[in-house]
Amino acid sequence: MASPVIVAASLLAADFAVLGQEIAAAERGGAELLHVDVMDGHFVPNLSMGPPVVRAVKRVATVPLDVHLMIDNPDQYVEAFIEAGAARVTVHVEVLPHLHRTLHFIRSCGALAGVALNPSTPVGALEEIAGDVDQVLVMSVNPGFGGQTFIPRSESKIRAVRALLDRAGNPAPVSVDGGVDHGNAARIVAAGASILVAGSSIFAGGLAERATRELRAAALQPAAR
Ligand code: DX5
Ligand code: ZN
Repeated sequence: MASPVIVAASLLAADFAVLGQEIAAAERGGAELLHVDVMDGHFVPNLSMGPPVVRAVKRVATVPLDVHLMIDNPDQYVEAFIEAGAARVTVHVEVLPHLHRTLHFIRSCGALAGVALNPSTPVGALEEIAGDVDQVLVMSVNPGFGGQTFIPRSESKIRAVRALLDRAGNPAPVSVDGGVDHGNAARIVAAGASILVAGSSIFAGGLAERATRELRAAALQPAAR
């Protein structure tokens, strides 16, 4: 059976000079997904990586790649990322007037289709599409940078997204991205998230295996009230 909580190690915070070692350490610690942040300098004010990096990560990874497209024109690049090895592709609702078409295109290319919501985007943006998603990514920081602080209101948003998916009869997981750490993991899970995307809390200390294991353990604790 699948784990109740999946840790997705966000490579943005890893040491790129030794990326293979960082990936292996996170996997030993129990990361069940590798999260790859793609930024275009337009949708978000930062640049990161593209398909060649995904292809290289795929060569050494033993767990699936979860590619988060923070770009203005995802339709143009979906196929390239799936060919490079993405098992899940998440796109932002804010840039897609034809989201239904994009999600079904992702699926037709053989990947799971995810939708991400920025902190200021209402949950209602998913109302008509809730039956067509394979995961929903709740951004708990404004996207573009690692190392930011979790926005507290995200907790109620996670509950609302979970409720929306449940109403649609869709068991797709809610994923949470931004400022996830040992201190808030249990509360995020209690709110209804089952994928925790974590960058700094896994890689910043230079001990990714231990940090991943500790994050998973914290996430499985009952939440403090
Ligand atoms: C932010 C990215 C995140 C980022 C999270 O725009 O989408 O995946 O790597 O980093 P932390 O865990 O450091 O907030
Ligand atoms: Zn991300």
